[in-house]
Amino acid sequence: MDRKGQKSRANIYLVGFMGVGKSTIGVRLAHELGYSFFDSDKEIEERVGKSITEIFADSGEAKFRQYEREFVDSGHPAEGCVISCGGGLVVQKDMPEKLKSKGVVICLFASLESILKRTQQSKKRPLLNVDAPAERIRQLFAEREPIYMKSGICISTEGRSISEIVRHVLRTYRALNL
Ligand code: S3P
Repeated sequence: MDRKGQKSRANIYLVGFMGVGKSTIGVRLAHELGYSFFDSDKEIEERVGKSITEIFADSGEAKFRQYEREFVDSGHPAEGCVISCGGGLVVQKDMPEKLKSKGVVICLFASLESILKRTQQSKKRPLLNVDAPAERIRQLFAEREPIYMKSGICISTEGRSISEIVRHVLRTYRALNL
C-alpha cells in the first residue's frame, strides 16, 4: 500500500529454467491483472535488432548477459508489469537481490523430466544447440537449481494446467498485500 492507501502495482518477475512456461503464463497473468507484459528475450531482440541465436553467434554469451542486465536496469517500467525473464537472467551475480528490490520474484519450476521433454526439440535456444542437448540440460539444471530455488517464491508447474498455474501465481501475489 502507498500513503494514499492505494494498492501498489509491483512488477512481477517470472524466473526459472527454459521450458517451464514463463512466457505463456506471463501473458495470461498480465492480462488478468491489467498489467503490461514484457519478455526479456524479445525486448533484447528488438533493441539489438538480432535474434537471440544471432546475438550468441555474433557477440557471445557474455554480451547477451550484459543486454539482460541492461534490460533489468532500464529496459522496462518500474511498476504495473509482468516480466518473463530468460532462463539464465536470474542466475547472474547479485541478480536475485536486484530483481527482489524491483518487485515480486516468482520462480516457476518443473521436474528435469518435464524440462527435457519440453526443450529437446528447441531450435531457438543457442545453449541447447549442441551435440548432446539432454546432457547439457542436465548439467545446467544441476548448476542452476539451487539458485532458482532461492531466487523468489517457488511455484511448481508440474501436473498443473496453465490456468491452474496462473490462478496460483495470482493468489500468491495478491496474498502479499503490497
Ligand atoms: C537462456 C534461456 C532463454 C534465452 C537464452 C538463454 C538460458 O530463454 O534467454 O537462450 O540461459 O537459460 P527461455 O528461458 O525463455 O528459453
